[in-house]
Amino acid sequence: MTKLLVFAGSTRQHSLNRRLAHASAAIAQTLGAEVTELELSSLDIPLYNADLEASGTPADVIRLKEIMHAHPAWIVCSPEYNGSYTGLMKNTLDWASSPVKGHPVWGNSQLPFAGKVLGLLSASPGALGGLRSLSHLNPLLQGLECWVCPKQYALGRAGEAFDASGNLQVEAQRKGVQAVVEQVLWASQRLSA
Ligand code: FNR
Repeated sequence: MTKLLVFAGSTRQHSLNRRLAHASAAIAQTLGAEVTELELSSLDIPLYNADLEASGTPADVIRLKEIMHAHPAWIVCSPEYNGSYTGLMKNTLDWASSPVKGHPVWGNSQLPFAGKVLGLLSASPGALGGLRSLSHLNPLLQGLECWVCPKQYALGRAGEAFDASGNLQVEAQRKGVQAVVEQVLWASQRLSA
């Protein structure tokens, strides 16, 4: 059973990307994955500063790394700010990927995300659904040697997409998300075989 981590790069109370993360998690569960939904606002993660890290990695950053380490496959839901991913997303990935020598979670790994299988989703009230954030997230994650799945989905007009229970109302949108989830689970199983 694939252990799948799902998180969104927004801590906003009514985040569309959190809703999308939740919808993708529900789909993954129906496909047999063991899913962890990570809420970034539950962690106290400061702005990255190498001096701060040198004086001791904050406890919640270690927690973040432990959670990421424990999951070989992730679905990342990326909001789009000014044509790119959010500062929160970058800060989270910078802290999590920082290769501190002898780190309690990553050890001496220079590329701690290497081999993770990633599915990328985005949601935005705009027509393009945050697609441009994914075009920037892709090379960042590939540079960290993640296996980023070729199927990706950007949910446009996301403010109108969910019903009161958080389900995607339009079949084509559900299928778009499901295709990404299926590919992540398939690739994760193939790579771990
Ligand atoms: C945005 N938003 C936005 N949307 C988009 O499709 N393309 C963009 O370039 C931007 N730029 C942008 C910049 C800034 C500073 C903000 C605050 C917002 C709108 C954004 O997609 C919207 O607020 C989403 O709802 C954010 O995602 P969450 O928080 O709902 O997950």
